[in-house]
Amino acid sequence: MTASGRGKLLVRGSINIDEFFVVPHIVRSGETLSSTDFSRRAGGKGANQAVSAAKAGADAHFAGSIGEDGTWLRQTLEGYGVGVTLLHTDAQLSTGRAIIQLSTSTADNSIVLNKGANFSLAAPPLSPPQLSKYTHLLLQNEIPLDETKRVLRDAHAAGLTTLLNPSPMLTREELAAFEWSQLDWLVINEGEGEDLLLALADGVETGKGDAKALLGALRATVLRALTGVIMTRGAEGVVASLRGGEVVEVGPGKVVGEVKDTTGAGDCFTGFFATLLSTLPRDEALSPATLASVLSIACQAAAMCVEKHGAMESVPTLKDVKERMGAQWDEGRPWESLRA
Ligand code: RIB
Repeated sequence: MTASGRGKLLVRGSINIDEFFVVPHIVRSGETLSSTDFSRRAGGKGANQAVSAAKAGADAHFAGSIGEDGTWLRQTLEGYGVGVTLLHTDAQLSTGRAIIQLSTSTADNSIVLNKGANFSLAAPPLSPPQLSKYTHLLLQNEIPLDETKRVLRDAHAAGLTTLLNPSPMLTREELAAFEWSQLDWLVINEGEGEDLLLALADGVETGKGDAKALLGALRATVLRALTGVIMTRGAEGVVASLRGGEVVEVGPGKVVGEVKDTTGAGDCFTGFFATLLSTLPRDEALSPATLASVLSIACQAAAMCVEKHGAMESVPTLKDVKERMGAQWDEGRPWESLRA
């Protein structure tokens, strides 16, 4: 943590050009469907999480790769206050791309990715001395897994707090072979939790929809040593567990008006969560009450994110979230030092 009370967060991950097609329903196999609206926006799980962290008040930096067609993404990230000195341009590749269908009937989406420059090998690898300038590292799964694992290993060795949001989910084999001992915090959704349990403890059954039982079963695996496991449940809120066995449950944030676009809501949650975590003293054990406060704020941010279109534009600032929470806002916590 810096003297100002906030950590320095590095997000190593993906950055995409998101192409949104608004459709009456998600296209069916063999069907051709006309969209009623189209827009091109900045996205990618890594970049979305870095922007969310910056909007939450973090000293956030992004490491990744774009093609020459993505120069505007660099400016977008800079405009949100994200450090981009580790954003590389690979002239040989196109920027990663996401084709996103937004269904007006279900307010649901579906995403097809083209990895493009996210899998570029041209950028010089982040060195341990570079990593040691940061206090927190946040990873997802839209860049080569070997790179994710290498950065995780070096960051852990350098003493950073490490967080992983393994989206899109790894394969069973990749999950079973993952070096979980390098990780402090895991952020997953319920479906990912089910996949993870199959990979780490095949045969262990929990009741469908019983999130606490699922979390408990996950904690009985190699994940027992993690500082925390956070499981998001969409409109049901979040359930989390700390290493000491404490379980924390918080309800969803309040959505005002209709749900317009859920794209990036999970990234918004994760960026806020990592930021608030980075304001807390690292040598003190996180109490369940503090974790509950952090999760409530991150849930409210994610709820506000679905009220607007896009994955970055729709992320609220910490100030917006504080205003929405009103009396529920937890005064006197370290995150008060963030620029709200
Ligand atoms: O989580 C939402 C993101 O997933 C989109 O911005 C898209 O680029 C894909 O990476």
